[in-house]
Amino acid sequence: MALKVIGISASPRLNGNSDLLLRRALAGAESAGAQIEYLRLVDFKIAPCIECNSCYKTGRCVVEDDYHIISAKMLDADRLIFATPIFFMTVCAQAKILIDRCQCLWAHKYVLKKPLISAAGRDRRAMVITVGGSKSKKMFDCIRLTMKYFFDVLDMNYAANLFVNKVEDPGQIKNHPSAMEEAFRLGRRLAAADSPALEKPLDIELT
Ligand SMILES: Cc1cc2nc3c(=O)[nH]c(=O)nc-3n(C[C@H](O)[C@H](O)[C@H](O)COP(=O)(O)O)c2cc1C
Repeated sequence: MALKVIGISASPRLNGNSDLLLRRALAGAESAGAQIEYLRLVDFKIAPCIECNSCYKTGRCVVEDDYHIISAKMLDADRLIFATPIFFMTVCAQAKILIDRCQCLWAHKYVLKKPLISAAGRDRRAMVITVGGSKSKKMFDCIRLTMKYFFDVLDMNYAANLFVNKVEDPGQIKNHPSAMEEAFRLGRRLAAADSPALEKPLDIELT
């Protein structure tokens, strides 16, 4: 059966740089035989976590909105490709709202100590694509840490980072052939049946 790969685009702008890379990565995954699904967070209504801690008792979020649609898709997928621009050295607000709402998955796993995924032991993996406008040595530090905990809560192996800096204008990434090629290659690798899971994420950082 084909692997299910979900691509989540957090950029608020249509045809943003991270979004274009995500679509190359999904094309790569599709070329490896995966069944792909692409979605943009701006098309969904997701409210921020209110820290009511109801999920500590049930493992479920009481806020009824589109979070539940995205969460179900993330839990069903074999692979996740998460794309976000750098805003103030971290993920953009749309991405952070989704990540914070996954606190109920954290509670499910670490407070209630229940297995998250019905088919325990599934090989699930995730990668992140991030684009920033400047070149700072520390620009991706926050992303690494946030993704480590986000992917852990989703019970996904942290498979790869694609970080690109000094790209700011909308669509500018199209003039960066090596970034587009890396996105395709990493997406293909993520979905390839014969690629082994790694202890540490593959790290590609481009200027
Ligand atoms: C609110 C805001 C904050 C930003 N903060 C940073 C930053 O801290 N570091 C940086 O290098 N670029 C920053 N940028 C620039 C974006 O990361 C850059 O334009 C990127 O290409 C946007 O990706 P996108 O087209 O996928 O949305 C910021 C842009 C905005 C709008």
